[in-house]
Amino acid sequence: MNYYINWDEEFPKHCVRYYGWFPAAKSYKKLLGDKDIKYFTLCAGEALDIFTFERGGILSRDKQRKLPNVVICERNRRLAGQIYRLVRPPLKEAIIWNDIRSLLLFSEERVREKKAEIESMPGEISAEKSSEYRGLLRAKDQLERLKRIFPFDIVNFDPCGSMLDTSFGENDLYKSFAKFFEYQLEATSFLLFLTTEFYGINEDNDPIFGTAFNDNVTQHNEIREALQTFCEADSYETIKEERKKNYLGFLKAAILPAALDLGWHAKHQGVFVYENSHRNPMMSSIIEFYRENEVRQSEESIDDILNVIKKWPSFISWDEGENDKKARADLEAVKKYREAVRNEFRTS
Ligand SMILES: C[S@@+](CC[C@H](N)C(=O)[O-])C[C@H]1O[C@@H](n2cnc3c(N)ncnc32)[C@H](O)[C@@H]1O
Repeated sequence: MNYYINWDEEFPKHCVRYYGWFPAAKSYKKLLGDKDIKYFTLCAGEALDIFTFERGGILSRDKQRKLPNVVICERNRRLAGQIYRLVRPPLKEAIIWNDIRSLLLFSEERVREKKAEIESMPGEISAEKSSEYRGLLRAKDQLERLKRIFPFDIVNFDPCGSMLDTSFGENDLYKSFAKFFEYQLEATSFLLFLTTEFYGINEDNDPIFGTAFNDNVTQHNEIREALQTFCEADSYETIKEERKKNYLGFLKAAILPAALDLGWHAKHQGVFVYENSHRNPMMSSIIEFYRENEVRQSEESIDDILNVIKKWPSFISWDEGENDKKARADLEAVKKYREAVRNEFRTS
C-alpha cells in the first residue's frame, strides 16, 4: 500500500532502531574489530538509520567529510536526489535509483517478458513508455556495479510493502530479499535487518507455514516442549499469539530455506512487531547469518528457532512508541546530529 509516512515522526520505528538495530550493529562492529562497516540500506529521505549509525560511531566520514561504504537503493527519483545531498556519499553511484525488485531480480528474460506483457495490453502501449520497463533496463548496469561491491557487513532490507500479501513464493519482494544470500556468498557472516508489513497476510501462506513448522514439531522434542512451555500449544495451528505464529511460520518456511540452501546459518538477535502511524503492524527482525561448514545445519537452526519461541517477537504499540522517553530523546538527538551535518554542507 502507498501512503505518506514522515519517518521523523514514526516513534515505534525509532524504538526498533534504538533497542534493536543500533545495539546489534554496535556489537557486530565490535566483533569485526577495526574494519570499516559496509552498509546496504533503503534509508528513505530522512535517512534516520544512517544518521543513527553515524552518530553512534558505526559509520564514519572520510577526510573530505563524505560517507563512504554506504550503498542506498531508492526507487523514488526525487528522494534519491534528496538522499544524495543529505548523506553525501563520495560517488553518486552509491545511490541506486531503482526498485530493489527490478535491481536484484534483473534478468534478460524478465526484460523480454515485461516487454511482451506491456505490448500485449490493449491500446498499443510501447514498452519504452513504461517506467517499470525502463527500470528493468537500468537495472542491468546497476546490478553489475553492485555485484562488484558485494558483500556487505550489514544489510538493511527495509522497503515499503509486504512479502506476505501474496503467497511468498510468488512475491517479488521476498524473491529479491532471498537474492542477498547468493550475492553475499563471499562473506563469512553478515547482519540482516529484515522489515515487512505484517498484516493482510495472504491466506495461501498459512498451510505452507504450518506444514514447514510442524515438521520441526514432530521431529524435535525440544521444539515441542518449548512450544508447550512458552506458547501453551502443541502445533503451529494451536499457537494463539498471532504475531508469534506468523513469524515462526515465515521463518521456517521462507527465511531459513533461502539461507540454509546456500549454507548460511541464522542467529536471531531480535524480532519486533511495531505499529506504524496508520496503526498497522510491521515486523522487523535482526538476524546474524554466518557460514561454518563443520556445523550441522539442522542442529543450528533448531537452536535458533527455540530462541525465537522463547523470546520473540517483542511488540511495540503506537502509544508505547510515542511515550518511550529514551527512544524519543535518542530520535531528537539523531535529528539534531543530522541537522548539524546538513548545515556543515550548506556552509561549505
Ligand atoms: C521504509 S522506508 C526506509 C526507512 C529507513 N530505513 C529508516 O530506518 O527510517 C523505505 C524507503 O525505500 C523506498 N522504497 C520502498 N520500496 C522500495 C523498493 N521496492 N525499491 C526501492 N526503494 C523502495 C521508499 O521510497 C522509502 O524511501
